Amino acid sequence: MKLISLFKPILNKIWAIRQTNPASQHVIIKLMILLDRVSKTYSRGSKPSLDRVSLHVEPKEFVIVVGQSGAGKTTLLKLLTREERQTSGKIIVGGIDYDKLKDREIPLLRRKIGVVFQDFKLLPNKTIFENVAYALEMVGMGNKEIRNTVPKVLDIVNLTGKEDRMPVELSGGERQRVAIARAIVRQPKILIADEPTGNLDPKHAWDVIKVLEKINRFGTTVLLTTHNQEIVNRLKRRVVTISDGKIVSDRANAGYKL
Ligand SMILES: Nc1ncnc2c1ncn2[C@@H]1O[C@H](COP(=O)(O)OP(=O)(O)OP(=O)(O)O)[C@@H](O)[C@H]1O
Ligand SMILES: [Mg+2]
Repeated sequence: MKLISLFKPILNKIWAIRQTNPASQHVIIKLMILLDRVSKTYSRGSKPSLDRVSLHVEPKEFVIVVGQSGAGKTTLLKLLTREERQTSGKIIVGGIDYDKLKDREIPLLRRKIGVVFQDFKLLPNKTIFENVAYALEMVGMGNKEIRNTVPKVLDIVNLTGKEDRMPVELSGGERQRVAIARAIVRQPKILIADEPTGNLDPKHAWDVIKVLEKINRFGTTVLLTTHNQEIVNRLKRRVVTISDGKIVSDRANAGYKL
């Protein structure tokens, strides 16, 4: 009896939520990413870069976003990282409703989302170890824990032994894997990779993709944009195609088709 009264407020709350909207609550809790009719217009009067885009991504999914240059892929990713704000529509990531997100909560959100760019964005004057460690220093992790964590992450991206090198001393593919290590070292729920292989030759590109697959196997949701047809065909994952700001197809285990 005592136990029930202890849990009663919580039970009431759950019940209240179910009463308001049982179906959508279930969906929100289950999904990692929910976009509901999201539009983005950069400047008033111009054509929307995203036009009523709806997308559901479940935890641990691997989703490839393809589309012509200017289709809206990066815009979509920037809305997820909250680098840009949607003009209309609803975005919920990991249960966080972006309409209710306060500015001071944004750093916390960014810790849940790791990002990798085409041009790596490494710190040129820091070693590989320091580049990855920096992401942990930023969140106040102690030295001992950093020394413990960084080698594990460098091992995941197959860069053990390169800790003391400078970024210029690495190949493009290796640099991108450092960038991935830095993006995952805080154990984000989602990894966003915007054209991570754009500057790489096919061999190095595939090494990077294999690392993304490994991270996905560990349970991280991955969103990848690419123009590389061969990668899309080899991966055989869910492919979302954007054209002119709209999702025009969304297929499981798909190949490349524009
Ligand atoms: N900051 C901005 N201000 C104004 N317009 C922008 C801005 N960023 C993007 N756009 C416009 O939005 C549209 C979509 O751009 P976006 O960068 O999302 O395309 P993309 O699919 O990532 O292309 P790419 O494959 O070349 O990277 C384009 O028409 C672009 O010019
Ligand atoms: Mg882009």
